[in-house]
Amino acid sequence: MTQIKQKLGGFLEQVGLFLAVLFYVLFAWYQWWSGVSPRLIRGSAEREAIHHAHLSIGATLFVLLLLIAVIWLLRPGQSIMGRIKKAFSNVANTAISLFFIFMFFSMLCGLAQAWSKGEETPFLGVFNLPQFLDWSWSTAGYNHAALSTIASALFSGIVFVYLFTHLRKYVKPGIAVGLLIILHLVVNLPKPPSLHPIAAFGSYVMIPIFYLTALALYCWAKERRAVYVPVFMVFIVFFLYLPYIAFKVLPPWHQKSAEETVFVESAEPLVPARPQAEIFSTPESLARAEKLVLWCTQCHNAAPSDSHILGPNLVGVYNRQAGTAEGYGRYSSAMVAKGIQGTFWNRPNLSEFLTHGKEFIPGNLMNQQSDLSDPVKLNQVIDYLEYISSK
Ligand code: HEC
Repeated sequence: MTQIKQKLGGFLEQVGLFLAVLFYVLFAWYQWWSGVSPRLIRGSAEREAIHHAHLSIGATLFVLLLLIAVIWLLRPGQSIMGRIKKAFSNVANTAISLFFIFMFFSMLCGLAQAWSKGEETPFLGVFNLPQFLDWSWSTAGYNHAALSTIASALFSGIVFVYLFTHLRKYVKPGIAVGLLIILHLVVNLPKPPSLHPIAAFGSYVMIPIFYLTALALYCWAKERRAVYVPVFMVFIVFFLYLPYIAFKVLPPWHQKSAEETVFVESAEPLVPARPQAEIFSTPESLARAEKLVLWCTQCHNAAPSDSHILGPNLVGVYNRQAGTAEGYGRYSSAMVAKGIQGTFWNRPNLSEFLTHGKEFIPGNLMNQQSDLSDPVKLNQVIDYLEYISSK
């Protein structure tokens, strides 16, 4: 009987390990998918399909997590109570258990939210770290946001630690880390690198850093030294400001409120925006422009009801004073100063900004990386900005 139990225990452990690897691989792709849909036109069939695929992977991940928890609880060898006690028996175990529980709720709430037609559910959002951080930082509106990447990377870091503790039973620690880094590269390298500067940064730079950090902290905590408390604090503060260090994205407590906006008169007379029907007379011409602006929408929303993401919402930008979108608190001081000098977003200023941005506003934070040197394309993009700012 004990032998059967032992065998069953060993078998279940292998199953748990397999599920954890599966979780890890799917999670990496889940992250990537969430960065793809924002680049597709809202309401298009393609975007819907990706959204659904993304949700299905999310649901699968949730089920995997549930299975891993059940296997861990029911594995023979120890009573359920004994196992739960062990999960909180020391700092390292408690940290991992809390993260596991947190991840679980996070995914549950994320799915509940996605399924409730994407309506915001602030109460649930508090538990849903990636989305909660998206609201407060609004860096990209989706999971590939800078801070979401940090939160998600932390989660995969925990899975990484879990895999490490198991692998270590079979191979030396150094080899275990090496195998996990190889796994990470195999999973991540096929992803297209140019998707989004933040997403790429997350996949290639930050996640490995997180793995190693998580591992270091785990080993540290295992030794039960009080020194890990300040270390944790330093890491937390560091990572809270990492988006600023990397992308100059300030956390919400540093953002300026709308009342501080200084409004001035335009330095030059403005030609009012034309009526929408005049700007794009055919659906094809509108579709062509929409396609060009797709690139911009990874950082800018361009629909009236949508909030700001990494960049300010572009609805109404045409003929507006630079650096004054309502509720967007992350303008560079260079952009705000340019606006106060009387720069409004008319056609000549937009042309200048979109082709020679760094010279037009030195120190601005827009890194659009797309080539608009072709005047036809440039005009189509500006037409589109005029279109979404007009009636
Ligand atoms: C990588 C992200 C990113 C991409 C891509 C991007 N932008 Fe931006 N954009 C920003 C950020 C960030 C700001 C705020 C810059 C600042 O405050 O210095 C901004 C500011 C702007 C502004 C000024 C808004 C205001 O309220 O003053 C306009 C106009 C603009 N972008 C248009 C575009 C267009 C058109 C495209 C596509 C060709 C584009 N952007 C692509 C990030 C981006």
